[in-house]
Amino acid sequence: MTLAGRRVVLGVSGGIASYKSCTIARRLTDAGVAVDVVLTASAAEFVRPVTFEALTRRPVLTSLWERGRALTHIDLARDPDLIVIAPATANLLARAAQGMADDLLTAILLAATVPVMVAPGMNDEMFAHPATQWNLSILRQRGWTIVGPAVGPLAEGPSERPGRMAEPEEIMVHIERLLRAPDSGLQGKRVLVTAGPTREHLDPVRVITNPSSGRMGYSIAEAAFARGADVVLVSGPTTLPPPTGAEMVHVTTTNDLLAAVEQQLPNADILVMAAAPADFRPIERNEEKRPRDAGQVQVTLEPTQDVLESTLNARREGSIAVGFALEVADGVRRARQKLERKCLDLVVLNQLAEPGSGFEAETNRITLITKTDTRELELMAKRQAAERVLDEVERLL
Ligand code: CTP
Repeated sequence: MTLAGRRVVLGVSGGIASYKSCTIARRLTDAGVAVDVVLTASAAEFVRPVTFEALTRRPVLTSLWERGRALTHIDLARDPDLIVIAPATANLLARAAQGMADDLLTAILLAATVPVMVAPGMNDEMFAHPATQWNLSILRQRGWTIVGPAVGPLAEGPSERPGRMAEPEEIMVHIERLLRAPDSGLQGKRVLVTAGPTREHLDPVRVITNPSSGRMGYSIAEAAFARGADVVLVSGPTTLPPPTGAEMVHVTTTNDLLAAVEQQLPNADILVMAAAPADFRPIERNEEKRPRDAGQVQVTLEPTQDVLESTLNARREGSIAVGFALEVADGVRRARQKLERKCLDLVVLNQLAEPGSGFEAETNRITLITKTDTRELELMAKRQAAERVLDEVERLL
């Protein structure tokens, strides 16, 4: 993450989710962000200031009345790049919406001249209450970014309604977006990403597919959102959780994928085709499961359509198209042929023969191929590789 040198005020109010804010403080500090934690009096009952002090290696503030800090709330309201409140309790939201300034955190919020993000976390009844909804709508109108809450179990028991605070990982992606988008060429761009394998059915229970995990495409979708893009992710079947911020479209066959891309492409400024569509499908599909004792089976396969080639005309003028190529040998030459044949601006080449690279790995060793350039990168995590692909897309834009 390129957040080094940024400053964030992390306000914590007194909900049980405040223990999760320790993870946020830790992750931000690891990313090179200077984090000033401000606790309300009730938050300090849940998590002691010293915990945050150890995680951020900076003093933690809890009161307007600390000696020698008479104007701290004004400095903290205008110096950071961002103010994040996680969790934001119903009480904190109410006080902020009314413009109260009866403790350090609300005083900072009232004087704030920088962007504010809140992650509400509370009991589901308290969240659904019209007073809380009204307060949130006031804060949204004021330009605050609201992340979550999520649906799921609460400390007090099971729940199927929103209330629990969004997970720290999700909150981190939103923080990254607020910090990075203003400097990114992807801010406000519409990015269409495809990911994962597709499946072609032989019968109701047997399929032709490939071992693509979807990880590379999911990483690109999340990284693009973190740069301020609007992201649609068309995904074949995978076991991955949906990436933060992406609108999901689920598909099964290569034909479904083609239809989804055709529909979304006219709106896209950037297409990243990271999916590994099945290239063949059985000419006939058996409607019933064939028993094993039926003996040998002959299957005739036909090629599926090439999604990139058959949607060429649906691309917007001036848009950028990125393809992937998985090659066993003679990679650069074959990838360059695909660049031309599929009218791409960038091909991301994976060499299957490379250790730590390709389908199911967590890491990837990629080569970036444009019309004018070939650049081989070192072995890196797929999320980091995603950043490098998007750096190249920004250059091409
Ligand atoms: N692709 C596609 N439609 C297909 C197959 C692949 O749009 N039916 C896309 C992939 O998403 C990728 C690029 O084309 O971005 C290259 O995929 P690859 O499988 O390497 O190329 P193929 O064209 O299928 O060529 P081959 O398998 O013969 O190497």
